Formats: sequence, C-alpha cells, structure tokens
Amino acid sequence: MVETAVNKGAPFLGRRVVVGVTGGIAAYKAAELVRLLVREAAEVLVAMTENATRFVSPLTFEALSGHRVIRSMWEADGTGIEHIAWGQEADLILVAPATANIIGKAACGIADDFLSTMLLAATAKILLCPSMNTRMFENPVLQENLSRLLQRGLSVLMPGAGALACRTEGRGRLPEPEDILEEARRLLTPQDLEGRKVLVTAGATREPIDPVRYVSNRSSGKMGYALARAARQRGAAVVLVSGATALKPPVGVEVVGVGTALDMRQAVFSRLVGCDMVIKAAAVSDYRPKTAAPQKVKKGAEELNLEMVKNPDILKELGMSKGDGGPLLVGFAAETEALLEHAREKLRSKNLDMIVANDVSAADAGFQTDTNRVKMLFRDGRVEESGLLSKDAVAHLVLDRAMEILTRRRAEA
Ligand code: PMT
Repeated sequence: MVETAVNKGAPFLGRRVVVGVTGGIAAYKAAELVRLLVREAAEVLVAMTENATRFVSPLTFEALSGHRVIRSMWEADGTGIEHIAWGQEADLILVAPATANIIGKAACGIADDFLSTMLLAATAKILLCPSMNTRMFENPVLQENLSRLLQRGLSVLMPGAGALACRTEGRGRLPEPEDILEEARRLLTPQDLEGRKVLVTAGATREPIDPVRYVSNRSSGKMGYALARAARQRGAAVVLVSGATALKPPVGVEVVGVGTALDMRQAVFSRLVGCDMVIKAAAVSDYRPKTAAPQKVKKGAEELNLEMVKNPDILKELGMSKGDGGPLLVGFAAETEALLEHAREKLRSKNLDMIVANDVSAADAGFQTDTNRVKMLFRDGRVEESGLLSKDAVAHLVLDRAMEILTRRRAEA
C-alpha cells in the first residue's frame, strides 16, 4: 500500500482485520470494537471460541461485520484452509478479550480450535488484549506465557485496573475499545519517528479576569491532539502541552495540562531537553488582563475597562534561542485575512523551520472542525496546499514534511 498522509490518517482504510473473541465477560466490548473498526473502513472478520459464544451471540458479530463468523474448524467454507488463509491475508489479528486459556495455548503452540490454529499459522501482526481476574493475570504462569509471546514478536496491550466482573478490584480489565483501536493504529503505521521526541502544544490558553471569568479563544485542541496522536502512532515519544479542552487524553502520550500562556511557556521550556521537534498548534492569548481580581467582579458600573498586557510569544522565544542543534520548530498561523502574507511574516520573525497556515474564518477548517485546509510554508519560499483533509491526515502531512526537513538537516550535518 502506498503510504500517503491520507491513508496514514486513516490506517484501517482497505485493511483486513481479524478479531478473535474468547470466552470472558469482556466479550461484549468486542462488539463495540468491531463496530468501530467497520466505521473506520476496515474489512473485519470475526473468529470466536465456543466459550465466547456463551457470552455474546455470533449473530451480533455477523450483523456488525457483515461477514460469517467462524467458531469451529469444521464449519468453515469447505476448502479447509480458512484457518491458514485468514491469518495470512489479514493485516492485523486482534484478540480481545484474550483469556488465560488462549494466551497459554498460543504460548505453547496448542492448536485445538479455529482461533488457536489460525494464530499458530498467522503471518499477520497479532495484538493480544488480555482480560481476566487479577489473580489469574498476576499468576507467574500467565506472565511467563505473555513474556514468551512478546519475545516472539506478538504485541500485548496490558489490561487496566478497576472494578472487575468477579466483584473484585484490580488489574485485569479489558482496555476500552477506543484504546485498543489506537494501539491497532500504531501497529499498522510505519514507525518512522521511532527514537524521536516530539513536543506538541494544543488548545486555548485561559487568562483569568477573576475567579470565574477568563479571556480565551475558540480552539478545541483537535488539531494539536491529532498531531500528538499521529506522532505517537509513528513511534515518537510525545509530550502534549494542552490548554483546557474537552478531549480525551491520547493513549501513550505525556499530557501536561496548563491554564495561562505563562503556564504554557513554563511547561514548554521545562520539557525541551532532548526534543527533536516542537509543533505549536495551540492558540495562545497574545494579551492577558493586567491583574486578575481576587473575588468575582460585581455588576454595577455601566462600563468596565479591562487593562491588558502582552503575553510572552513562546514560539518566538524558542525561535530566537535555538542554536544549530535545537529542535525543529513548526508554528501554526490562524488568520482571517491575508493568510500567506501574515504566515510568511511569522515564519521569518519567529525564526521557524516551517509554518502551517489555516484560514480560521472558513466553516470547514480551523477552529473546532474535524477537518482542516492548510498551506505549509517553508524557509526556501515553497508553499504546499493540503486541500480539505481530516485533521488526522493534516497531522500526518505536517509530520511528513517536518521529518523531511530533519532528515535533510541530518544528512547535511
Ligand atoms: O484547536 P482546534 O479547534 O482544532 O483549532 C486549531 C487551530 C485553529 C487553533 C490551529 O490549527 C492553529 O491555527 N493554531 C495556532 C493558533 C494561533 O495562535 O495562531 P497565531 O497566528 O496567533 O500564532 C502563531 C504561532 O505562534 C502559533 O504557533 C502559536 O502557538 C504561537 N504563539 C502565539 C502567541 C504567543 N503568545 N505565543 C506563541 O507561541
């Protein structure tokens, strides 16, 4: 498959995923997993163990996947090779939930039903998502089996801790389907940022007027979160410095929550060491109220004047202080007019390697939307237009170009 930013941003598009469902109470979550995979345009085939069918009916998975579910070696299509073909033609096999039994069988090479036989013959990547009672999960036998499978190159998404169906608390919960999906995306994405550290800023800063009011802007954080997720999917260690948002923290990313522009500045500068790239998608308030009232400002006067002072320009400080070995700097420019002119000026005055300009007056781009349309400006004068893309695809495109600059820089050094 040709790797473009569009299919990096939609890693399941045109991919075949086999979901193996085994007999644990979390089998019901596999139905949601299949629904999400189908929604992301994967072709999904489901194999169930006999025990799994006691928890969820195969009909549920047939309706969600649009394909016949296979439970037994003897109900296949008659060719007698589906247990081989499924595991070799798939891009990914996801076993969720994976019981102690299937983990033990896979570790020891036991093939006594369709799913365990398929796992033994598979050439596809395999992601196991264990889910069971804590005592079972912590049992050294289970842990040894998992270590053996990890050594053989299978991937394991460790269970979470919390209340379990057996009415105990502890480690053993199947991760949420969205988190399993995120790990699957990572497995399907080329790891070209492995060994890199990327710092992303996202969302809006909030500058307090009093304890209950603030000055802010319309940034939802979606663009910055898409960048953090994309960098993580491509193997980078990611720090996400985030203003207040309603978004779920991305899996596997260090999230540092901040309030004001001054907080953001402190968070960025204290986490710069070792960074290969800083991408500033956050919408930072250029000004803040000179003083924040200690108590709620009361209604009274006909007019209320707010005295504002300038915030530090974090990106400009980064640009001015970067030496030859400093991180690659990618800015964003949010404009409502003269997009290229203003972006070009920011690229120059903030000493950036690249700037991503978006017209925030458009209905389908900029603030809050799931799509964006950007122009990327480079130091050599080149301008590249993205067209309308999902924010995930824009994120991959920005990372593609940033990586090209880093690679060129390394070759010239
Ligand atoms: O969050 P979403 O709803 O998904 O919306 C995405 C977005 C529109 C916020 C995003 O795509 C975007 O354009 N982010 C930059 C917004 C912005 O503040 O632009 P600016 O032109 O004012 O600033 C230029 C650059 O300098 C930005 O990288 C900004 O982070 C940085 N800056 C600005 C001011 C300041 N005091 N410190 C800074 O570091």
